[in-house]
Amino acid sequence: MRTHRDPRTLADGPSVLDRMARILAARGLDRARVDALPDEPEPFSPEAALSAGMPPRYRDAVADHPLVLAWTRQVAAQATAPSTGARRQVTCGPSLLMAGVTGAGKTHHAYGALRVLVRAGLGVRWRATAAADLYAELRPGTTTDAERVLAAYSRVPLLLLDDLGAAKASEFVEEQTYRLINHRYNAVLPTLITTNLQIRDLKAYLGDRFTSRLAEMTTRVEFEPVDRRCHQRAA
Ligand SMILES: Nc1ncnc2c1ncn2[C@@H]1O[C@H](COP(=O)(O)OP(=O)(O)OP(=O)(O)O)[C@@H](O)[C@H]1O
Ligand SMILES: [Mg+2]
Repeated sequence: MRTHRDPRTLADGPSVLDRMARILAARGLDRARVDALPDEPEPFSPEAALSAGMPPRYRDAVADHPLVLAWTRQVAAQATAPSTGARRQVTCGPSLLMAGVTGAGKTHHAYGALRVLVRAGLGVRWRATAAADLYAELRPGTTTDAERVLAAYSRVPLLLLDDLGAAKASEFVEEQTYRLINHRYNAVLPTLITTNLQIRDLKAYLGDRFTSRLAEMTTRVEFEPVDRRCHQRAA
């Protein structure tokens, strides 16, 4: 018959601590010195982990556009905790279409918006991809499992789809973008989309079914038509 010992705690007496001291001593370790060791710092704060996952160019990006900040507040308001007392997570919410000329600061603001959410103490599971890179990953003939790749981007709670419209138009591009956006539209998953294209050009590029969903799920943010890259070079 199996017997159970009464559970013991460290407070049950000196014998456990004595045994531990003997084990440490046998290994040449002094318990007083082990106790005095500082706690290991957490390897990553949530913000440091976020920065580590960002492209270096945008690691210090700060979002200050009022419509982008309003979006972060809407997404934060809809965040939910998976259990009582747990950190609230970004789950669902509205999306943002960030449009403007090249160099206007769209990608900068998209990464800055992620930082705002993390600084607000929210858990954010996110992915970012340039649209052209996504199509390359999905293209038949690559070694990756295209359906799994698409599912990962379709289901991630927060997606940054950068530079929509930069890849050459094709049936494949239209179909894959529709599948991605349709899934995120149905699931009400927040998506940050950046583009150089006007709506009528997006319509010609990706079709009515895409732009109809986009119109409902996003707020459009138009950036001032200034190429910051030229200005930075000139400075
Ligand atoms: N508000 C800002 N403050 C400081 N630097 C900024 C700001 N916005 C953008 N930048 C810098 O300007 C440059 C261009 O910004 P960004 O890459 O975001 O432009 P973009 O609109 O995404 O351009 P593209 O359409 O070509 O992708 C980057 O070096 C970025 O770090
Ligand atoms: Mg960009």
